[in-house]
Amino acid sequence: MAALEVIPGGAVLVRDGRVALAGPYPEVKAGANGARTVEVDGVLFPGFVDAHTHAVFGMARLEDHERRARGMDYKAIAAEGGGILSSVRDLRGRSVEELRDLTARRLRRLLAHGTTTVEVKSGYGLETEAELRSLEVIGGLAGGPPSLVPTFLGAHEIPLEYRPRRDDYVRLVVEEMLPAVAAQGIARFCDVFCEPGVFTPEETRRILEAARGHGLGLKIHADELEGSGGAELAAALGAVSADHLAHVSPAGAQALAASGTVAVLLPGTMLFLGKRDRAPARMIIDQGGAVALSTDFNPGSSPGVSLPLMATLGVSQLGMVPAEAVMAITVNGAAAVGEATTRGQIAPGFRADLALAAIRDWRELVYWYGQNLVTEVWVAGTACHPGPGTINFIV
Ligand code: NIG
Ligand code: FE
Repeated sequence: MAALEVIPGGAVLVRDGRVALAGPYPEVKAGANGARTVEVDGVLFPGFVDAHTHAVFGMARLEDHERRARGMDYKAIAAEGGGILSSVRDLRGRSVEELRDLTARRLRRLLAHGTTTVEVKSGYGLETEAELRSLEVIGGLAGGPPSLVPTFLGAHEIPLEYRPRRDDYVRLVVEEMLPAVAAQGIARFCDVFCEPGVFTPEETRRILEAARGHGLGLKIHADELEGSGGAELAAALGAVSADHLAHVSPAGAQALAASGTVAVLLPGTMLFLGKRDRAPARMIIDQGGAVALSTDFNPGSSPGVSLPLMATLGVSQLGMVPAEAVMAITVNGAAAVGEATTRGQIAPGFRADLALAAIRDWRELVYWYGQNLVTEVWVAGTACHPGPGTINFIV
């Protein structure tokens, strides 16, 4: 993960939206056949890949934030009907158009921080129609920029109306939602919030096996606030990623490291919730596993949009070295959304997604935290930031 290649005075040749050649300027120029030249000043990174967001939501959750500041815990807030369920009540009343407008503006903010591919989950509908509506919003925006990878997260929480009969909700997800989601044809992955008090490992397995039967790739919110064996399950099911992992057991971390499942770590969530627990990034990497860093962008536990900030936290909180942190928001972010061979690298054949940072040394990207160093962004070779619409940051 630390084998980062840096090309001083480099150039990239882009043809038909893809990287045709990357290397020292004279070499690339020799192969460029009079192509139009764009000169840039700074460090050019592969466009960042955010492998875990919940970007389709209505209102911000400022009350939850204040209650936490007064000492209330995330799970206690959720138990009182706040938390995810308050976003559910809010989203159910909003139209596709309204949600598309809110989501598009938020995604522009991710783009402005250098993110060119974003995985976006449904999960604030928790009823068939509202889940399909959320996926429709994601599908409508999927062409980007930034481009989206849609994930169905109908198993994000047990809705209040199903609390006394939770098994009926699991059945609804398996027997009604998943077939409808598959027929809709937008989602590429299915995710489950596997967590004590939310979905058990057995329920998670049931849902994900059904999802696999519908041709969806698998993801798990695993061992986030308490451990329950989610990481072991992700590895056993061959999931593309196991996400969060702040409470993964040593056996779970080992199982992940030995598998092809990417560990998607979300240090912004622990930071924002004021929790001290840390995902064992060092141990997973040292045992040969793949670690990605993502924002978890959502209204409850992580309203942040910056992957470079996540990289900074990867270094300062999770014991990663800067090169590993950059890999984690590029190469491994792409692997965590099934795009390992098409995104996240400036290499021939990869989509020409590029983020320019106004720095001299690449390590500055993960050093100057709290400011946006990204000045220009290209998706599939097309300049798309700065551009119209990027200054409207009101959410
Ligand atoms: O990844 N863990 C569950 N889902 C989100 C939180 C969503 C919310 O609070 O609205 C997460 O942290
Ligand atoms: Fe999440």
